[in-house]
Amino acid sequence: MKILFISLGCDKNLVDSEHMLGKLSSRGHVVVDDETEAEAIVVNTCAFIHDAKEESVSNILEMAEYRKDGKCRCLIVTGCLAERYRQEILDEIPEVDAVIGTNSYDEILTAIESCDQGERSLIMKPLTGLPDNEKKRLMTTGGHYEYLKIAEGCEKHCTYCIIPKLRGKFRSVPMEELLEEATEMASQGVRELILVAQETTIYGKDIYGEKSLHILLKKLCEIPGIRWIRVLYCYPEEIYPELIQVMRDEPKICHYLDLPIQHCNDTVLKRMGRRTTKQELIDIITELRRQIPDIVLRTSLITGFPGETEEQHEEMMEFVDEIEFDRLGVFTYSPEEGTPAAEFPDQIDEETKLDWQDEILSLQQEVSYDNGTKRIGQELDVVVEGYVPNENAYVCRTYADTPGVDGYFFLNTDETLNSGDFVKARVTGAEEYDLIGDLVEAYDMLEEEVAAYEKSK
Ligand code: F3S
Repeated sequence: MKILFISLGCDKNLVDSEHMLGKLSSRGHVVVDDETEAEAIVVNTCAFIHDAKEESVSNILEMAEYRKDGKCRCLIVTGCLAERYRQEILDEIPEVDAVIGTNSYDEILTAIESCDQGERSLIMKPLTGLPDNEKKRLMTTGGHYEYLKIAEGCEKHCTYCIIPKLRGKFRSVPMEELLEEATEMASQGVRELILVAQETTIYGKDIYGEKSLHILLKKLCEIPGIRWIRVLYCYPEEIYPELIQVMRDEPKICHYLDLPIQHCNDTVLKRMGRRTTKQELIDIITELRRQIPDIVLRTSLITGFPGETEEQHEEMMEFVDEIEFDRLGVFTYSPEEGTPAAEFPDQIDEETKLDWQDEILSLQQEVSYDNGTKRIGQELDVVVEGYVPNENAYVCRTYADTPGVDGYFFLNTDETLNSGDFVKARVTGAEEYDLIGDLVEAYDMLEEEVAAYEKSK
C-alpha cells in the first residue's frame, strides 16, 4: 500500500512513528507524502495540552476527507490522543478504521490487515512492558542525528500532567537493545544521538535497581561513528554525581542539559507536585556549572498555574534574570481533564497567562542575546544542517543547540560543505537566539576520530 504518515507531538512520539514506518516498509508498504496518492493514512497524535489536541483532531478530520472520497481506504489513528479518546474517535469519526494505543503501535500491520478486510479495530494493550520493535526503524530526521528513546512512561505525577495516564509507568529499554539500535543508526550515518524519554535521568532504576544513565552513556560513546551525544528531559532532583562526571569526562557527550524546572517559587512547585525547592534548584545548577563551566542549560517554565500570584510571577522573572538559562521555553498552563490541577481553585485567565509568558520570553531574549555576544571570538565545532542560497550561508548547529528547539549557527563560507559535516567555526556575531560565524577548518573531525578509534583497538 502507499501510506501517508503524519507524526505530531514530541520527539518520543516521532520515535514511535519511525518504528511503525520501519515495520510498514519492511513489509513492502511505500511511504508517500501526497494525501491524494495515499491508500492508507496514519495519524500519530499528541494530547499533551489543549493546542496539541486541537492540532491532532484537525489533522484527523482533514485526513477523514481523503478517506471519504479518494484513493484512501484505510485511516488509522495512533498515539496519545488515540490512547485517551479511543472510543470517542471511533464513535464520532466513522471514517477512522483503526485506533491504536501508545503501547500497541507494534500492531500497525495488524491494523492495516484488518482494515484491508473491511473491519474496524481498536487495539489497546495495557500500559506495561514495551512494544515489540524491529531493529531497524525508518529514520525521518535527515540522517545525521537521531533520537534514541531510552525509556517509556513516567510516574512522577506532576499535578498538571496527563502523560502518566497516556504512557503508563516508567519502563527502561534494556541497554543491549539500545546499544544495538544506536550501532545500527551509526552504521546508517547517524553522528549525533539525542537521548529522550519522559524522564532520562532515572534510566535503568526499574530494570537494574539503580540509576544507570551514566553507564549507558559510556557505552554509547564507544560506538564508532557517533560524534555527539545529547541528553534531554532530565529531572533536576534526579541529577547524580556519576552522571555529571561522565558528562564532564567523555568528549562525545555534549555539555548541554535539558532541565525542565516549570517554576521556582516553593509554594507553586509544591502545588505542581514537583520534588524540588528553589534552593535545591539553585544548588543543582551551581554544581553543574562548577563542574562543567561551559555547560549549556535549557529549561521550560509554566505560566499561570492555578493560584499563581503576581508576586510569584515576579519571583520567577527575577530567577530567570539571575540564573541566566542559556535556553528557555515557556508554556501557558493548560488545564487537562483528569489531572488534579485542573480541579484546583483560582484558575488564572488566559490573558494573564499569555502576558506573563510574554514578559518571561522578552526577558529571556535579552539574556540570550547577552550570552550570544559573550561567544564572539570563540571557536566552536558545528554540524552542518543545510544551505541558504540567498544568504550564501550554511545553517549549522553547535553543541548548544538541539535540533528543532534551539537556535542555529549561520556559517559564511565559499567552501562546499555537506549536511552532516562537522567543521570548526569562529563566532563573529550574535542575534537573540542565533550565532553567525566564519569557517576555520573544513576537515571532517569524525574521520579522524574513527581512525584514532580503529588504531586504539
Ligand atoms: Fe504529546 Fe504524547 Fe509526546 S502527549 S508531547 S505526543 S508523549
